[in-house]
Amino acid sequence: MSRLLCRLEDIPDGEGRGFEGDADGDGIFVVRHGDRAYGYVNSCPHAASPLDWVENQFMSLDKSHILCATHGAEFRIEDGFCVLGPCSGQSLVPVPVSVRDGDVVLG
Ligand code: FES
Repeated sequence: MSRLLCRLEDIPDGEGRGFEGDADGDGIFVVRHGDRAYGYVNSCPHAASPLDWVENQFMSLDKSHILCATHGAEFRIEDGFCVLGPCSGQSLVPVPVSVRDGDVVLG
């Protein structure tokens, strides 16, 4: 089953946006990188905090990495691998997100 999250154009290029997850789970977020969208569970592998200290602020200053605002871990956009910070070598949990006719779709 799939779920429409938003239009790709609703997420500025290089930014992220949070969404509710499943009923019993953490929230999720989607990062837009050009025409692509990448989805992850909004829970840092370090201390399981949501990554966005300020709502929908998921990116490092230069927009090159996903940033956990709690203790500063940075993750690659394309696979969620942590390259810097207290959970280096761990990864965000991916969620299946795709872009279909400009719609960002989960599942
Ligand atoms: S909870 Fe994300 S870096 Fe500590």
